[in-house]
Order: sequence, then C-alpha cells, then structure tokens
Amino acid sequence: MALQISATNPEHPALLLALPWDLPLAEWPAEYLVPLPRGISRHVVRYTRAGDEVIAVKELAERPALREYGLLRDLDRLGIPAVDPLAVVTGRTDGAGAPLEPVLVTRHLRGSMPYRSMFETTMRPATMHRLMDALAVLLVRLHLAGFAWGDCSLSNTLFRRDAGAYAAYLVDAETGELHPRLSPGQREYDLDLARVNISGELLDLEASGALHPSVDPVEFGHGICTRYQGLWQELTRTSVYPAGEYHYIERRIRRLNELGFDVAEMQIEHSSTGDTVTFVPKVVDAGHHQRQLLRLTGLDTEQNQARRLLGDLESWMATQDDHTPGDPLAARPEVLAHRWVRDVFRPTVRAVPPELRGSMDPAEIYHQLLEHRWYLSERAQHDIGLDTAVKDYTEHVLPRARAALEQAGPE
Ligand SMILES: Nc1ncnc2c1ncn2[C@@H]1O[C@H](COP(=O)(O)OP(=O)(O)OP(=O)(O)O)[C@@H](O)[C@H]1O
Ligand SMILES: [Mg+2]
Repeated sequence: MALQISATNPEHPALLLALPWDLPLAEWPAEYLVPLPRGISRHVVRYTRAGDEVIAVKELAERPALREYGLLRDLDRLGIPAVDPLAVVTGRTDGAGAPLEPVLVTRHLRGSMPYRSMFETTMRPATMHRLMDALAVLLVRLHLAGFAWGDCSLSNTLFRRDAGAYAAYLVDAETGELHPRLSPGQREYDLDLARVNISGELLDLEASGALHPSVDPVEFGHGICTRYQGLWQELTRTSVYPAGEYHYIERRIRRLNELGFDVAEMQIEHSSTGDTVTFVPKVVDAGHHQRQLLRLTGLDTEQNQARRLLGDLESWMATQDDHTPGDPLAARPEVLAHRWVRDVFRPTVRAVPPELRGSMDPAEIYHQLLEHRWYLSERAQHDIGLDTAVKDYTEHVLPRARAALEQAGPE
C-alpha cells in the first residue's frame, strides 16, 4: 500500500513527506525530534518539525486516527479551543515492507504545558484553582456545542497562560462524540468521568510528592463539578424580569461576557407575569460581532463597540416582535435593524450636541451612552431608560470632560 497523506492544508503533504515514515515513531532519530514536554499517553507521541512549524505526531490505528482527525476538525469549526488537526498519514511500511501504524498529525500548541510539567514546581493552591476554572470552562464550552468528551482528564488537556489566567485546550478527542445537543444525563456522565479522572491524577501526584499538602484530591474533583454546574446554570437558566426592564438582560449579558462567553442568540417571551428571557449562549470568534453589526446595520465599529451595540440592537429587536403582526417581512432581522438605526441609533446620537462630541464617532458616542445608562441603572437598581441617560450624559458628563480637556491646554 502506498503512503497516503490527507491534510487540511495543501502545503502540508509536501512538508510532511520529508519525515522518516518508514520507521516506527519510537525509533525516530533525535535529529528529527523537538524535545518539548509531553503528557502521559497510551500511544507513542513525538514532536517534530514541518517547515517552520512544530507538530505533534501520534501513532494509532487507522479508524481512530481518522475519527479523531474528523472530530478535531469539527471542534475547530465550532470554535472550541482544541489542538489543530493537520493530517493523517496512512499506508506506512517499514524497510522490509511490513505495515506500520498510521499517525495523526496536529499542530503543537505553542506556549502550552501538560499539567505534570506545571506541577513539577510545586504549585500554589490558588494557581491550581485557576487551572481548574479553565478546565471547567472548556468542558462547559464543549457541552454547549454538543460534544461529549468521554475522557476529560488533566492529561487530555493542555494549559496555556492567558493574560494572568489560564486557558484550557482539548488535546485528545479520540473518545469524543458530537451530538446536536447533550441531554442532562449525557452531561452528568461526562462530568462524572472528569471528576474521577482528575481526582485519580491528583492522587497520583500526591503519591509522588508533587501536590501541595493543602489540596485534597477528592475534594478537588468535586470542586470542578461545582464550578462547572455554576457556570452551566449561569449560561442556560431562564430568567423572568419585569416587562420593559432592559437592565436585567444587560446585567446578565455582562456577567456572561465577564465569564468569557458571548451571547449569540437571545429569546424573549412575553407573559402575563413578566417577560421571560431565555439565552442561548454561544462562544463566538473575535470578529463575529463586528461582522454581524456591519451586515445588519452597515455600522463598521471596533470589537467592544460592536458587542455593546449588537446587545442593544438585539434587546430592542426582541421587544418589536409583536408590533408588526401579519407582515413577515417586517420581522426580518435586516429590516428591524434598519429601523433601529433610523429610529433609535441616529436620533440618540443626534441628541448629543456636535460641539460636545470631541473626537468620538457615532458608534463611540452610542457606546458611551449605553455605558452611562448601565452605570446610572446600576445605581438606581432599575432601567433608567436611554433618554434619561442621554440627558444626564450631555448635561453632566460631557461638559466636565470638555472643561478638563481645555484646562489641559492644546494638544
Ligand atoms: N498538538 C499538541 N500540542 C501539544 N502537545 C501535544 C499535542 N498533541 C499531543 N500532545 C502531547 O501528547 C500527549 C498525549 O497525547 P494524547 O492524549 O492525544 O495521546 P493518547 O495516547 O491518545 O492519550 P490517552 O492515553 O489518553 O488515550 C498529550 O498529553 C500532550 O502532552
Ligand atoms: Mg490522552
């Protein structure tokens, strides 16, 4: 059988051809290897180079190799933090023509560390808690996307430092299954596997003296579950709030943003007892809000502005559903967005006198007004409304800002 390389990027096969595929991975000469720390694994895994990239090569049977490759591609499409699949190499034979196991090739996750290496220098309990938080977030993200991991553990996760915190990445997808959505039973089962695996791994570390004495492995396993459940609840619960109170919705969106989640969809149902809000949180990529806002409204903004403006647009849209009965076209997002720009966005920005705007463009002004409304509403413990926010902002905030600028002298 001839050597076959299936790859996601057309440049990779040529680069990969230079590697000694006729040798079992365990026998690859040192000149091919990149000595970086690896986690524990059943399969043989080695790091090597393809062009100027460091890659991870894992030897395993053809079916699981293709399956894992496919799953990692799905996770990539879903925007889940996981290692990038690059290729599957099959049809390997040694010098005498005997078959060798296929391999799965992934991109080495730069700056990542397997947990064992992190524990080698005894880790403070606070740092451990942050690692566990990152792992709980990863598991929640996977579950929201319908992915049951089947083998969540510290060895199957890579950790990367991320602005003072840690981000967790999935490295081993072999046992995973992707469903349209997971039932509570499926999630619980997956979480239970995670708990047992993680407590086991910590017990191992304890036995080898690498665990901080204050950390109880079993309790820690439970801690992860608690953190997961809190996060899941915050993300998916249905909340009821008094009709017309934007403020409650906004508070939830902000809390979700702080947890690292973006709200891509939101449903509001009206009822006699109050409005019910259901969020369908989705983790979205960095440019998502900018593209979405541009497509809907033609407004080209920065990322944070786009996120805030879209949040406002969506809350507004959700309240407009009932106002256009019998006209399906009028309820289309583009049509509603156009009305929002005309009836809400532009008049609001125009309410700020041009001489007070300084160098702020309309998107920034609107963003500032939303921030101000948030601030005043938090103080008042209810939604004070956009009009009040605009009035207060132009009467109190902007004049003070201008005065401060003038005092500071010409730029
Ligand atoms: N793309 C990558 N980037 C960084 N490290 C990697 C990468 N791929 C694999 N590794 C390292 O290799 C180790 C083993 O990989 P993996 O968990 O996929 O192997 P496995 O044999 O399937 O494991 P298991 O025993 O859980 O089945 C990981 O813990 C990680 O340290
Ligand atoms: Mg593994």
